[in-house]
Amino acid sequence: MKTIVAYYSRKGSNKYLAEKISKSLSCEIEEIKPRLDVFILFLMNIHLGIKPLKHNIQEYDRLILFGPIWMGKFIHHCIVSFISISVK
Ligand SMILES: Cc1cc2nc3c(=O)[nH]c(=O)nc-3n(C[C@H](O)[C@H](O)[C@H](O)COP(=O)(O)O)c2cc1C
Repeated sequence: MKTIVAYYSRKGSNKYLAEKISKSLSCEIEEIKPRLDVFILFLMNIHLGIKPLKHNIQEYDRLILFGPIWMGKFIHHCIVSFISISVK
């Protein structure tokens, strides 16, 4: 089974976990990066989506996704953008 780990991390916790998992599974890793990285705009829900991905996520059988919980929700706009362009 072809697996990829993808993550969004602002302060490094999710990056740390994603790297640990990808190393232990010996699988590819994709960092999800916002086009506009301005924290106050994030909080105001103003964003321009994410930067182009390095991997074609649809080529993988299994996706392991990491991202922070913000205001009680996992679904940060970077994760929403990532899912909308990579998961069909
Ligand atoms: C604006 C903001 C809102 C947050 N809201 C929550 C929350 O509702 N519940 C929670 O458990 N943690 C919350 N956190 C803490 C983050 O989930 C935690 O810092 C996260 O693991 C950071 O991940 P990162 O280091 O990969 O960016 C919040 C952090 C920020 C910056």
